[in-house]
Amino acid sequence: MTVYAIIGGTGLTQLEGLHIEAELQIDTPYGAPSAPVLRGSYAGREVLFLARHGHPHRIPPHQVNYRANLWALKQAGAEAIIAVNAVGGIHAQMPAGHFCVPDQIIDYSYGREHTYFAGELEHVTHVDFSYPYDEPLRAKLLAALQAQGCSFSDFGVYGCTQGPRLETAAEIVRMQRDGCDIVGMTGMPEALLARELELPYGCLALVVNPAAGKSDELITMTEIERVLAQGMDKVKATLAQVLAG
Ligand code: HPA
Repeated sequence: MTVYAIIGGTGLTQLEGLHIEAELQIDTPYGAPSAPVLRGSYAGREVLFLARHGHPHRIPPHQVNYRANLWALKQAGAEAIIAVNAVGGIHAQMPAGHFCVPDQIIDYSYGREHTYFAGELEHVTHVDFSYPYDEPLRAKLLAALQAQGCSFSDFGVYGCTQGPRLETAAEIVRMQRDGCDIVGMTGMPEALLARELELPYGCLALVVNPAAGKSDELITMTEIERVLAQGMDKVKATLAQVLAG
């Protein structure tokens, strides 16, 4: 059975219901991961868990050591990655509380250590990244969302911005023109690094606010946290369903 690693984002720094068997402090050639990798069982199945922003939540998106995180998970035995991400909704049919399992990415981030293929190399490597997300994993996430009766979209282009600030309304207009449906700050380089390590990668994105300029209200952390808190039970149930399947 595939060993899944769950990378928990904002709102999911710990996985309630995870029966922890080991807390692995893993050092990597790229430094320390955001937190110890937790190994345990969830929904009756062996699973790994890592809090992307640390536990407690303290590492901003542009300072996450994505290379160490993915490396540590692979070292701990991960065979596939389920990333959980809080995002802003750009697409009109992706309001707060809605889920999206994106099928594409556009990367607007910069200055992040984004590849393992750097430094002293024996040969230059270009990985294929035409389809950044693993289709079988996407199908499992979608089936689980359906089974949980969640409101979700089975498509979506994830636009990854640098953060930690939110976007301007004009940036969101541009991103929409580019074809982005959701916006977040952590989708990249995480997805690419998983690909470089040959780990199938899928993303369960929860929309926690309308993107900048998409509603009459300003975006507040209070509102984001309220939607996150409401959605987390569904996230956990969806993860449990994927693992049980
Ligand atoms: N923009 C970028 N990242 C986000 C947002 C947003 O509106 N909401 C949650 N993460």
